[in-house]
Amino acid sequence: MATNTREEYIDWIRDAHGMEMQAAKLLESQIGRVDSYPELKAKFKEHLEVTRRQAERLESCLKRHGEDTSTIKDAMGKMAGVMQTFGGLFPTDEVVKTGIASYTFENMEISSYSVLIGAAEHFGDAETARICTDILREEEEMAGWLKSNIPNVTHQFLSRAETGGPAKR
Ligand SMILES: [Fe+2]
Repeated sequence: MATNTREEYIDWIRDAHGMEMQAAKLLESQIGRVDSYPELKAKFKEHLEVTRRQAERLESCLKRHGEDTSTIKDAMGKMAGVMQTFGGLFPTDEVVKTGIASYTFENMEISSYSVLIGAAEHFGDAETARICTDILREEEEMAGWLKSNIPNVTHQFLSRAETGGPAKR
């Protein structure tokens, strides 16, 4: 029996929407926990706004496919388990672990949107393909920023830890 691939495709958009809702929650908590690292804090704030717009654009994709908001909520629960892996741990090197978690999360987003672009093209859903291509670029920008700045954040963390300054976050 053939799989209903269109339903699978809609599920993937729903998962991406849930992923962004969870990303926004994670960023909100991270913004309050990196006070000693103003550049990182500013970047998280900027990406929170980007993330909220991404969620809205994905919601518009779901609505065009006739999905209502109750099914959108389901996907948020699905992603909660994934996010528990990234959140909730506050070790002494918290800012370093935050950097790793953020970079990992961005790369998960990048792979999810790469899948969605292929699926949207498969179903001739040009609008979703265009939106996901834009979002993919935004995630790549954030991942690139993290990749470039994590070494410096780590250096700051170590210097402060060595001199007894506010290092942890
Ligand atoms: Fe995102």
